[in-house]
Amino acid sequence: MSDQRPYLGFGLGLRKEHYHQIAERRPRVDWFEILTENYMVAGGKPLHWLERVREEYPLVMHGVSLSIGSSDPLDLEYLRDLKTLAERVEPEWISDHLCWTSLGGHNFHDLLPLPYTEEAVGHVAARVRQVQDFLGRRILLENLSSYVTFRDSQMSEWEFLSAVCEAADCLILLDVNNIYVSAVNHGFDPLEYLEGVPAERVWQFHLAGHTTNESGRILIDTHDQPVRDEVWDLYAEAARRFGPVSTMIERDDNIPPLDELLSELEQARRVARPIWEEAAA
Ligand SMILES: [Fe+2]
Repeated sequence: MSDQRPYLGFGLGLRKEHYHQIAERRPRVDWFEILTENYMVAGGKPLHWLERVREEYPLVMHGVSLSIGSSDPLDLEYLRDLKTLAERVEPEWISDHLCWTSLGGHNFHDLLPLPYTEEAVGHVAARVRQVQDFLGRRILLENLSSYVTFRDSQMSEWEFLSAVCEAADCLILLDVNNIYVSAVNHGFDPLEYLEGVPAERVWQFHLAGHTTNESGRILIDTHDQPVRDEVWDLYAEAARRFGPVSTMIERDDNIPPLDELLSELEQARRVARPIWEEAAA
């Protein structure tokens, strides 16, 4: 993997509902992101489709079970399976989340936040280095949407993300929707977040939809509807701040027809391209 930020263009999450159409129509998508754990199997249909899609498109791998922040030992079996899949897929890069998902060997299937402390920076960074040494490549870590904070935190979320990535020499998958959701839930300025992240480490953006809870005061990162206007606005700011970064729409629930996602992806192009073209002129 080179040190220069590669630019893949505009991608979508690969979802089983769209396998057939993607293979038959070869839609105008520059790349796909796969959910790593769905393909960590020995055989079967998902791998069959994965290989067909891989023949036509670049792929990146996005996981949810690395549990990089946990105090459990790293799961070596998981890491071996991850590496085997990476050898098969030859992804442009591999990402997971800056979170913990397991404790005492129990997987909570939820992306849980960390306290933003120096101790946690050291703990997570050491584990990222172990993972990167094992895989022989740098990984990307994604910022969460969160609903709680820790009394022990000594720094902001963006300072924590930046400190981990600097200490581990890893990269960043910046989820623009998650920044917006957390900014509303915790009352911080999303632009300050963008300013606080080291630009050269940001290799990918996620865009997704969120919903508002019954009280109307908390935003929930549901990935079940189109990207909201406020997030498009923040994406434009991110495009300005970071330059050309591979951008992807994430839809995990209430999956619409492929054409709907393709037109949402067009909207991402319409937002970011003029900004990048103007900056390059
Ligand atoms: Fe995301």
